[in-house]
Amino acid sequence: MTGDTLYSIRMRATTKGRHVSGAEKIVAPDRIDATVSGLIARARNREKSPGEITITIESLAGEQVKFVKALDLVTINALGWEEGRACAVRVLCRAGVSEKAVEAALGHLSRGAAASGGSMRGAMIMDAQTGERLEPDQERGVRASRFDWSNETGEIIGRALGVVGLLHFRTKEALALATKVVHGPGIVAELCWSDDPDYTAGYVASLQTGYVRFPFLKKKNDGHGGRAIFIDRNNTKLEKIVSYLQTDTVLINSGGECRPETDVETYLAALVRV
Ligand code: COA
Ligand code: AMP
Repeated sequence: MTGDTLYSIRMRATTKGRHVSGAEKIVAPDRIDATVSGLIARARNREKSPGEITITIESLAGEQVKFVKALDLVTINALGWEEGRACAVRVLCRAGVSEKAVEAALGHLSRGAAASGGSMRGAMIMDAQTGERLEPDQERGVRASRFDWSNETGEIIGRALGVVGLLHFRTKEALALATKVVHGPGIVAELCWSDDPDYTAGYVASLQTGYVRFPFLKKKNDGHGGRAIFIDRNNTKLEKIVSYLQTDTVLINSGGECRPETDVETYLAALVRV
């Protein structure tokens, strides 16, 4: 299907040049007005009077739309950031990332992965075996964009997340972003924790493991965070992966399971080996 009747609506807000919030939707024309209002409210929710709010409304006419199913979600009950990271290493290794590459990613994200030492504006792209960084610009990184829940699936997943106590809007957005990322060509897995000092949760995502959430992947008040996307360069060109992440349109039109919290041993034992 092409996106002839769809629009990509993207919001970003800055204060004194600093990025404070961003979100995006894909909607039919009759939902543009309500969606824009919602995104403006969202920008003002994060900071009451941001210096600048930019809204982009772009027709997706002629663009191919890829439909995918959301990843299953589970929370691992690791109670501190050190235990959380140790569990995340095990899950990433199960997804096919080498221990060397995982350790490299943890080091970059803990220290500040941008070339200048702070947080990047997007994700690192890393070779899943060697840990080599491949993103063309180490200050910017690569941002996943042009993805959303279809109306009905968004509502279903919102309720399912609520049942397992995950009511924060970030979880639903991060699950959508991770679902787009792992359905890309040559992508092995993703690791993320936020650079928001108050938000300690993070996740590992891959097609094999689903979306595995950890309540703590960093200490409270730690402003270092970011994303690492691990890729297999053997069969897919980097340019194709970057182009998929940044511009291909992905709609999530079928929900995954939202499972109750569990421990890492139980979770790993139940994973089907491939
Ligand atoms: N951090 C810092 N700066 C950012 C940024 C971020 N996360 N996102 C955008 N910017 C700034 C940068 O200066 C960027 O310029 P650059 O390309 O040189 O980095 C500029 O805004 C334009 O960014 P662009 O992505 O072209 O803007 P857009 O309006 O098309 O889309 C977003 C903006 C934020 C909606 C999009 O980039 C995005 O991240 N979408 C996913 C949002 C989401 O669901 N996140 C889930 C988080 S859990
Ligand atoms: P957030 O989840 O918004 O707290 O973002 C955490 C980190 O992920 C940021 O510091 C960026 O490094 C990175 N990031 C932000 N937006 C994107 C995106 N759209 N795609 C990939 N990485 C992103």
